[in-house]
Formats: sequence, C-alpha cells, structure tokens
Amino acid sequence: MTRKIAIFDTTLRDGEQSPGASMNTEEKLVIARELIRMNVDVIEAGFPVSSPGDFKSVQEIGRLAGDACVVCGLTRAVDKDIQVAAEALATAERPRIHTGLGVSPSHLRDKLRLTEEQAIERGVHAVRFAKSFVDDVEFYAEDAGRAELPFLARIIEEVIKAGATVVNIPDTTGYNLPWDFGQRIRYLMEHVSGIEDVTVSVHTHNDLGMATALAMEAVRNGATQVECTINGLGERAGNTAMEEVVMAIRMHGDELDAHTDIVTTELTRASRLVSSITGINVQPNKSIVGANAFAHSSGIHQDGVLKARDTYEIIDPADVGAGGSQIILSARSGHAALRHRYEELGYTFTDAEFEPVYEAFLEVADKKKEVYDGDLESIVNERRREATA
Ligand code: KIV
Ligand code: ZN
Repeated sequence: MTRKIAIFDTTLRDGEQSPGASMNTEEKLVIARELIRMNVDVIEAGFPVSSPGDFKSVQEIGRLAGDACVVCGLTRAVDKDIQVAAEALATAERPRIHTGLGVSPSHLRDKLRLTEEQAIERGVHAVRFAKSFVDDVEFYAEDAGRAELPFLARIIEEVIKAGATVVNIPDTTGYNLPWDFGQRIRYLMEHVSGIEDVTVSVHTHNDLGMATALAMEAVRNGATQVECTINGLGERAGNTAMEEVVMAIRMHGDELDAHTDIVTTELTRASRLVSSITGINVQPNKSIVGANAFAHSSGIHQDGVLKARDTYEIIDPADVGAGGSQIILSARSGHAALRHRYEELGYTFTDAEFEPVYEAFLEVADKKKEVYDGDLESIVNERRREATA
C-alpha cells in the first residue's frame, strides 16, 4: 500500500484571498458541501479573527462537516487570534488551529522585527496556547522557502516538542525550484527529531508557475499533506491546484509511493462550481479542468485520438467527470475527423462523394475559428441542391 497523502483544501481561505474572489457564508457552505463530497481530508474554512463573516463561515462549516473531515481556522501567532479561532471551531467535531509566523530573514527582520530566538519563543507559545483549546494544531513556518535551513529545522523541532501535530512548510512567495524545495523537505526529514511522528505539510504558491511541481518534489521527499485550492485560486498567481496534485499523484502513485482519497470524478464539477461562485473564469488551457483539457484540434491529433484515445490523452475525461474527449473541427482538421463527425450526425459517404464535401468544409473552415454541426448540415444541403438543380 502506498503512503496516504492528505489533501488540505484552502479554497475558502487562501483561495478567497484572490482579488475579486470573496464569498459570503452561504457561498462558502455550497463549496464546503462539494469538498466533503470529494472526500478532502481538511477544509481550511477561514481566518476567524479577520471578520465576523469569516468567523461565521468557520462556525457553520464546522457544524456542517461533522466527522467527515477536519475543519481548520487560520491564525497569526497571536493569543487573540487563537482564542477567536477556538471559539469559531467550537462547533466542529474535528477542529484544527493553524497558527504560525514568518521565518525567513526578510520576514524576521523587516516584518516581525524578531530575532530567531524570539521567533522560536513566539511559535512555541502559540502552539502551546492553541493546544489548550484543541488537540490538533498545525504550525506554519511562513516563507520557509527562503528561510535559513538550520534555523527552520530548529523552529520546527521546537514546535513539535510543544505539541504541533502538523508542520506546514510553505513556499509562500513561490520562489523555489522543485529540486531545491524537495531538498529542503529532505533536510528537515533528516535533521528534525520527532518529525516522523507528525504530518509534514507543504503549501506552495505559483509565482513561477511551479507550485504543483514543488508539491510533487516535496511528496517524493517525505511530505504527507498537500495544501491546495480548486482551480489554483489564491494570493497573487495562486496556490497549488488541487486537480493537478490529485491527478499527478493518481498517474504516478507508484513512483511517488503515494495516493489520495479524493473522488476524482468530482474534480470538474468542483472547478465549475468555484468558478461560478467566485466569477473567476478558468483559463481554457488549464490542466485537468480547462475547457480545452480534452479537446483536439489538429488533424494529426484527431486522427490519433479517433484510432486510440491514449495516443494524445493521458487521462480518461470520465475519470475527472469531464464527459468525453472533444474533436474540434477547424481548418486544421483532416479527413478522418470530418468523416467521423458526419457519421455521428448520420451521414455516410463513398470516397468519391466525400472529397468535394471535405473541400467545401475547408472553405468554410478558413473563414471561422470552429466549424459547427449546423455548418456541416449546410454543406450537405448545399451539395444536394446543386445536384438536383
Ligand atoms: O502562503 C503562506 O505561507 C500561507 C500561510 C498562512 C500558511 O498562506
Ligand atoms: Zn498561502
């Protein structure tokens, strides 16, 4: 059996930090229901101290989830935040407080104005204080991707001693290359005592377009939880996209020694739901859930897919709830694709009949981005009229 990788969804917290993505409690509950249907392990429901609306969302999602998954609330390493998160999470059967602080030189020096020793003290205090309310406490080492490794190892070891059940190693600024980030995780696995007894989580951002690659390298080097969002929503360029992580692990589970328990057939529905609620469109060429993810446009590809789907598709669209593959008829399409579509519409032609139909099709196709069924019907009707005139 491969290692279980927990999927921690933060669409409702980091995802909501995307400009224009803010959601009210009702909308968050609709998404939370879908996340539960997908079998996510953890829902990060909000940042309770940030607003009464976020407090209520965490409360309501806690009530909704029952024992289906862990419900988590974010805090800074500040007593008031932790206390308020604990109050909001009182409705949850499986509550988690997610607390932490910046650990990179720039966060310590310019943002927090703390020495390394003071930061350790603050982190340890926050974890102990959170433990006085809930058993499950996750510590995030913000900007761990740019932290000094020996210091990162020291603070992680101290918060584990203080009772953290999960340690989160974020690449907050999306700065790392995949192999460097993987080495960071490996270093921690080898230098932090007690790390084998806790969940090691990663939270990567997409500033260089490598969030999923970083997460995969982290899994390969020992991480057992991935933090992600539907459609990769999140601060700036976004977070690791859940659909990418889940399908990459599914495709390469043996190599990664990993599996998730996500119901993959819900991925497309979840993507559309989040897009319609936030009003943020999914780019057509988005991996897994984009409108073109299973669409084939060039003649060579269409011919291949019609002969055997896996010539150009590594994923069966049905596995992600996407219906089927699409053949897009355009000026790049060849005979095979056009004949196939006409057959689906109930028309068969001899080779001699088909050639002028194909030529008429190319004339139409050169004037349009895509040729639709109505255009194909018109081509046939036109030829019939010409034949009987
Ligand atoms: O990107 C980040 O570091 C975060 C933390 C608050 C977990 O979102
Ligand atoms: Zn983040």
